[in-house]
Amino acid sequence: MPPIVLVLNGPNLNLLGTREPTTYGHETLADISALCARSAEEFGLAVEFRQTNHEGELLDWICGARGRCAGIVINPAAWTHTCVAIRDALVASELPVIEVHLSNVHAREPFRHHSFVSAIASAVLTGFGSHGYRLALQHFGQRLLGVSP
Ligand code: DQA
Repeated sequence: MPPIVLVLNGPNLNLLGTREPTTYGHETLADISALCARSAEEFGLAVEFRQTNHEGELLDWICGARGRCAGIVINPAAWTHTCVAIRDALVASELPVIEVHLSNVHAREPFRHHSFVSAIASAVLTGFGSHGYRLALQHFGQRLLGVSP
């Protein structure tokens, strides 16, 4: 059974493709989900890809990953900049975490420059677009299985 990596997406990312395309591009969340499925197969991983607009649901998913999954890739979206509970849940999961943002948050408004997650993440990928998800999964492939295509 390949190690499971949980790929989590926060609020409004369900709108990708139509939401501010000059900032987030034209790919939909379904496109990114398909990219993650292809990448996971390539790197020997199993992926569970989820999105929610409800903070409690995201917290439940993170808590449920403990002992079951091997790592978490998370784009917390706007909760990156506001939510201590997500950071605490990620720490409690005792799993390696990679934080991903489609846009380069540091080139945007000052309120996006602070992340509650970055300090507890193994790595942060910001501004690579959907490729950031693939890079995160490639990292987990190398870290968990020694797969380096
Ligand atoms: C985002 C950046 C966040 O600041 C923003 O609130 C999002 C998306 C990104 O992927 O670039 O919703 O996480």
